[in-house]
Amino acid sequence: MNSINVLLVPKEINHTELSGKIIVVIDILRASSTIVTALARGCRGLIPIFSPDKVKEKSKGFAKEEVLLGGERKGKKIKGFDLGNSPREYTEELVKDKIIIFSTTNGVKTLEMAKNAFKIVIGSFLNLQAVCDYCYNFQEDIIIVCAGKDGNFSLEDSVCAGMLINSLKKNLPGVFRGTDANIAVQILYKKYGNNILGVLKKSQHGKYLESIGLGRDLEFCSTLDAFNIVPIFENRVITTAEYRMRG
Ligand code: MLT
Repeated sequence: MNSINVLLVPKEINHTELSGKIIVVIDILRASSTIVTALARGCRGLIPIFSPDKVKEKSKGFAKEEVLLGGERKGKKIKGFDLGNSPREYTEELVKDKIIIFSTTNGVKTLEMAKNAFKIVIGSFLNLQAVCDYCYNFQEDIIIVCAGKDGNFSLEDSVCAGMLINSLKKNLPGVFRGTDANIAVQILYKKYGNNILGVLKKSQHGKYLESIGLGRDLEFCSTLDAFNIVPIFENRVITTAEYRMRG
């Protein structure tokens, strides 16, 4: 691995070369956290599609008992969907062995923008160490993409990016590039890294989720290394790295 860089907002992808690179997409509140949780709870895979109508169209290709529709707009469950985007809703009982067709505002849009990359990994606080360990297996450069909020900077994604860079550079001296973005997320991590729930409560989207009664999602999404899961987005489906290794 030659370098690690962070993109603070998704639109930076438009002028970044992705081919041959590993992309780590981070959307702490809440798409990444929900994807990791659903796979940890045994769902077979997630199919991210931005348009809710296209999600419903896609679901017609599956037997009713094998598929669930999950996602949000303005943080609330999309009309006609089975699940919203609270990771707490994705229980083993509900999602085990299911395919989930998934639509969210920022996280899924960012996944669709990154699709030309060599490999797309989904990162969060819930699986941070697992993502780190996974990235050590590769020589390719890494680009961390913060999904942000409505195309803008988000505090929580940036602190997580800072934590990931901090962990990776510990074992890979020399890959850290002193770009302003890389330094900025490191500073945010140093300031907030030991109080993740505090920074989620301080963030714009965290405050919004609390205002619509989803404050407990902040506690859930702030849990460090709860799952040893590495979601990989490839051929339009998100499954676990372990599942892909099994082939
Ligand atoms: C998103 O992708 O925009 C977020 O996950 C939104 C949310 O879940 O509140």
